[in-house]
Amino acid sequence: MRIPLVAGNWKMNGSLSSTQELLAGIKQGIGAIGAGVECAVFPPFVYLAEVERLLGGTVIGWGAQNVSEQQPGAFTGEVATAMLLDFHCTYVIVGHSERRTLYGETDAIVARKFAAARKAGLTPVLCIGELLEERERGVTEEVVARQLDAVLELEGIEGIEEAVIAYEPVWAIGTGKTATPEQAQEVHAFIRSRLARHDAAIAAATRILYGGSVKGSNAAELFAMPDLDGGLVGGASLNAQEFLTIAKGA
Ligand code: PGA
Repeated sequence: MRIPLVAGNWKMNGSLSSTQELLAGIKQGIGAIGAGVECAVFPPFVYLAEVERLLGGTVIGWGAQNVSEQQPGAFTGEVATAMLLDFHCTYVIVGHSERRTLYGETDAIVARKFAAARKAGLTPVLCIGELLEERERGVTEEVVARQLDAVLELEGIEGIEEAVIAYEPVWAIGTGKTATPEQAQEVHAFIRSRLARHDAAIAAATRILYGGSVKGSNAAELFAMPDLDGGLVGGASLNAQEFLTIAKGA
């Protein structure tokens, strides 16, 4: 049984006071969601302490948006896995498309971050997905297979067992242009079949989230697809009501 996960990726948004307000709103409504769905938020690093303070003891989880693959040392501007553990993060996002396209993270770097996270006991949320140009060229499956294989080669299928995958078509992120439920399902089924080539039981148990312009009004029809196990939500996760509506749809 895969318990759906609805994860709010706040990206580089918010302030201390808006973080407090957003979490208060989520906490107020979370009781109505029920135990069948897991929720987690991913604030900017600097708000992790506040998120831990406000969410500790609740059913809502939290994690970071990125992490260094290095051990602590002379790496200016980076954050190590051990630091995330200090703030009791459960999850960490690795390989978000904004990290890949804007900050030059390659498949190899993402795989090393994934490995570092897992080694520390954090659950990596591995983001994969194709660019618009790649979809139009008909190479979507090749792209997500390559991104997935980079991690499988380094960590093996056992590594995936302890992770979450997020399929996020880059053309759908922050554009308001959501993949149709059928488009998303097709790629999710492909990802699961790719994992099943290594281990059918792990493939069947792995949560694959969809991300890209998920909102309250489209979440339920997306999450109704058999291989969609929740969502990685950007913009809409900055509004407590929207985030809770999405969680209800899962
Ligand atoms: P979006 O972002 O929901 O704003 O499209 C999703 C993501 O980047 O994780």
